[in-house]
Order: sequence, then C-alpha cells, then structure tokens
Amino acid sequence: MEIFDQVEKLIEEIKGYPVSNKEELEKFRIQYLGSKNTIKPVFSLIKDVPNERKKEFGQKVNEAKQTAEAKFKEAQTGLKSAGTSDKYKSFDPSLPMDGEWEGSRHPVSITMNHFIKIFEKIGFEVAEEREIEDDWHNFTAMNTPEDHPARDMQDTFYLKDSDKMLLRTHTSSVQARVMTTQKPPIRIIAPGRVYRNETISARSHCQFHQVEGLYIDKNVSFADMKQTLLYFAREMYGVDTKIRLRPSFFPFTEPSAEMDVWMGTDTDATKRLTKGTGWLEVLGCGMVDPNVLKNCDIDPEVYSGFAFGIGIERTAMQKFEINDIRHLFENDLRFLKQFSSAT
Ligand code: DAH
Repeated sequence: MEIFDQVEKLIEEIKGYPVSNKEELEKFRIQYLGSKNTIKPVFSLIKDVPNERKKEFGQKVNEAKQTAEAKFKEAQTGLKSAGTSDKYKSFDPSLPMDGEWEGSRHPVSITMNHFIKIFEKIGFEVAEEREIEDDWHNFTAMNTPEDHPARDMQDTFYLKDSDKMLLRTHTSSVQARVMTTQKPPIRIIAPGRVYRNETISARSHCQFHQVEGLYIDKNVSFADMKQTLLYFAREMYGVDTKIRLRPSFFPFTEPSAEMDVWMGTDTDATKRLTKGTGWLEVLGCGMVDPNVLKNCDIDPEVYSGFAFGIGIERTAMQKFEINDIRHLFENDLRFLKQFSSAT
C-alpha cells in the first residue's frame, strides 16, 4: 500500500540523514523531533488506512519516531565525547607544566608533619585512631571522673540519642586505645582532629588538631620526659631554645606540667605572643597516672611513662603569623595559596 511505502521511505530518510556536527544535529531535531516535525502529519494519514491495518500502521509510524529519537541521542552523546576526546588528544604529559597552581599543603598539615618528623627521628611511631569515640576511652580510662567538668555537655559533642558515644575531645583517647591493645614498650605519637562544643571565634573553634605523645616502658622518668621535650623544642624552635616546665593539672598525669618555650621580649611580636613574659606556652605533659595504666591493664609497679599533648592550630598560627583560627577551616583558596611545602 502506498501509505505504508511512505512511512518506510520516511524511516530510510531518517536513517540516512547526516548528523556529523552540531548544526546538522539541530536541523535533524527540528525536522523529526521538533514541534512541527514531519512525522506528525504522517500519523494523521491513519484515517485513510483500512481498520484491520490501522494497528500495523500505527506501529510503523512509531518505529519512525523511535528511530529518530534513538539516532538523535546517539549522535548527541557521540558529539559530546568527541568534544572531550579532542581535548585529551591535545594533552601531552611529557610537556612541562604551564605554570598553573598545582596545589599546596594546608598549614595545619605542614605543622603536623613537622611534629611527626621530629618525633619519628627518635623512634616514635604514628598511631591513628577514630574520631568517634566512646566515653570510656575518652574519659573513664583517662582517669577523668564522672563529675569532671570536661564531661559537661557544654564541652563534649555527644552522638544523637547516646550518652556513651562522642566526638573525641582530645587525642589522649588514643593513649587508651594503644595501651589496651599493645604491650610496653610503647612509643607513639597520635596526630588528629578533635572536637569541642565551643563558640567559634578568632581564637577558638569547635574543631582543631592535636598531636599526642606517649612513652611507656620500665624505668621511664620525669627526666626522660624533660629531655625528650627539650629535644623537640630545639628541633622546632631552634638549637638554642630554652624551655621551662610549670606545675599544672591533668587528670591523666601525675605530676603534670605545662611546657613553655623562651621567645624573649626583644620584638613587639614576641612581646605580644608571650603577653610580655617572654615565655610561650607550648604543650601539656606529665607522668602517666598509675590509675590510667591500671585501667588499661598495664602494671604500674613494673611500668611507668610520660605523655604530652600539643595543639596544632596554635603552633601553626604562631609559625605562619595567622591571626584568626577560622582561616584554617574555611578553605579559601586566596588564603591557602600562600603556603607551600614539599612535606
Ligand atoms: N589532653 C590535653 C588537652 O586536650 C592535653 C594533654 C595534656 C595531653 C597533658 C597529655 C598530657 O597527654 O600529658 O588539653
């Protein structure tokens, strides 16, 4: 029948229509898929088809429509990927870089890696642990009594519907993780992110980083701690650096101390940094409390040890003269592009 031949011809025409570039594809779309396409009027010829062949005719016209749709899609994706492959064809990896910024390390990572390097040189190994902790490892094992203010909802982010799971408030929780799974001698440093429910300001944030240190063995003394920290201070701040240890309190160490580094008062910057005293507070430390050892199944009659904790942001801010801690968490490229380091 002639009308059937007409549809057949239309299908052949669709198949043969050139669509090798964007312009041709658009013409094709208007011709066969647009609102005034040439398939539609063929549909209306159905009224001239005898009843018993109407269904067959409908199917044939549908085939024409589907052929057009399929061809359009295929050509469209074909043209798109040709566009991309052209781009890659012109990419020659053996050519020198075109001088684009290839990224740089974050000041927190630079500072953290510096700490790690210093302690790795004297045999400390890196221990990384979870940020979502349980109450026991974060507080109980670390000799922090139930009623200690550090447990207050004000400071700690608890997980929803849980009074046992929390975001660790310090890397000291890694001490408990390591001491319950490893036998002494233990010599680790644990860098990582910690969280506290604090108002965000230029000086404090609800997230920051610490590096924890722990050394447990037979006959570890306060003098060992002091010498290790002096070594650290000299590597970090220069060979002539002087330190002092001030008595302090932490639940997990006894005795506890805070270490200051002598910066002097020669310049306005050091005066400001040290609030006029010349001494810069750098870290908290102490001899591991026997209760902590007991909680972790280490015999305090046989073993002793020291621990310390350093805030990374504060050190990074001093080192790079950053005056607002929020810069460290905003990932503004204008800020980040100012730092570069191979490590
Ligand atoms: N965990 C303490 C804090 O977040 C820092 C600290 C102090 C860690 C003394 C220690 C330590 O290991 O011995 O403020």
